[in-house]
Amino acid sequence: MVIIDTDPGLDDAVAVLFALQSGRFEVLGLTTVAGNLGIDVTTRNAGRLLALLDRGDIPAIAGAGAPLARPGIDEADIHGDDGLGGVLLPEGAPPFPGFAPSWIADRLREAPAGSIDILALGPLTNIALMLRDHADAAARIGRLIVMGGVVRDKGNAGPHSEFNFACDPEATAMVLAAGLDVTIVPLDVTRKVRADREYLAALNGKSTAATAAAELIAAYFKDGRESRPLHDPCVMLYAVAPELFNTTKQSFSVDISHGADAGAVLPNAGGFPVSVLMDVDATGALDLLGQGLSTSHP
Ligand code: BDR
Ligand code: CA
Repeated sequence: MVIIDTDPGLDDAVAVLFALQSGRFEVLGLTTVAGNLGIDVTTRNAGRLLALLDRGDIPAIAGAGAPLARPGIDEADIHGDDGLGGVLLPEGAPPFPGFAPSWIADRLREAPAGSIDILALGPLTNIALMLRDHADAAARIGRLIVMGGVVRDKGNAGPHSEFNFACDPEATAMVLAAGLDVTIVPLDVTRKVRADREYLAALNGKSTAATAAAELIAAYFKDGRESRPLHDPCVMLYAVAPELFNTTKQSFSVDISHGADAGAVLPNAGGFPVSVLMDVDATGALDLLGQGLSTSHP
């Protein structure tokens, strides 16, 4: 069973569509966080993705509207004002009542310990709030797989910092320090899993999810670029096919300054040990993503 914590967001949307369409996940809910856009927009988009695939049985629950201790970072120039690059999706149901960190904690408490994985595709604010307010429940998480950080490559927020971690460095530090089973999926890997126009053409028409994913990725192409990285879908791909990735164990501390590299993860022998993906079979990952998005259900 999984809970997807997300800030859709174009690549979030593709990741969610894969999770819903592939049949490889039992999705308990989409919890939303402010990140790529404000919380109202990311929550509305979560509902739209569920509506597109007629999954009104899955709730979308709104979470944190701002990072723990600082203002958010505006990414509208990448994801568009609507977070979906102008791709029109049907309107979804209103969000499920409640607050994401509490809702996640309730699900963790009622399921066997270790049976729910959390797939975190945005800033870690909701997870940190759950750790702070519901530590008993947080200890019951199975795997916590997080898109965030950059290890050797250059950053996309600061010179060495990645957007999700840079949005909420304090939350990132809390989550890494919590001693959970955390796997980080950094830019070093996600930048290798790239869709080009040929890939989009192959997806188009295969299923409602595949066609929408192709449109969403196309909206992500700008400035004549030849291909785009599929950051968040790598979390889903690792969850179902860890053999496609090379995983290392490393210890990090987190830059919680207000400098240009806030949120950067710093290799530090005395830091917090986590699993980190450092390489990927990109062809295998793209094939699996395409197959999952194109799966037809009877
Ligand atoms: C991450 O930041 C967001 O813009 C993407 O959705 C992804 O989660 C990549 O740095
Ligand atoms: Ca995201």
